[in-house]
Amino acid sequence: MKLIYGDCLQEMKKFDDKSFDIVFTSPPFKEEDVPTDYWSIKVNKYIWCDTFGIESISGKWKVHKYQDPLVLYDTVLKMFKGCNTVLDPFMGSGTTGAACANLGLEFTGIEKDESYFTVATHRLDDYL
Ligand SMILES: C[S@@+](CC[C@H](N)C(=O)[O-])C[C@H]1O[C@@H](n2cnc3c(N)ncnc32)[C@H](O)[C@@H]1O
Repeated sequence: MKLIYGDCLQEMKKFDDKSFDIVFTSPPFKEEDVPTDYWSIKVNKYIWCDTFGIESISGKWKVHKYQDPLVLYDTVLKMFKGCNTVLDPFMGSGTTGAACANLGLEFTGIEKDESYFTVATHRLDDYL
């Protein structure tokens, strides 16, 4: 497992072609383009909870504003059989890394926000 603190647009230029089997990520978006209730209500309730039966993150488990449920990433990543090397260029709190650890996959994550990078590092500490 490798965690990189930096801007993915720069960091990804350092990788050789075909370094990863899959890019698995939740990219950033312009806050002004998204209604304030979009993530907290529509995505979490209608998609995660109602469609997948997966609860959104809350309480002490929530360490990132846009943190996704680990069980969701576990479930979706499992569908990509044969993809053993995974890149998340917008790592956030490291949910993709935690799923890779659960599934025995090799993970590389990039995060440009220092506080979120620290959060991910602590979360994934056991696997570094
Ligand atoms: C939607 S969040 C990812 C949340 C993550 N899936 C989780 O469950 O915690 C997107 C993340 O991308 C980071 N980010 C935005 N632009 C970036 C860039 N150019 N390089 C690296 N990270 C970036 C943001 O700081 C933010 O933490």
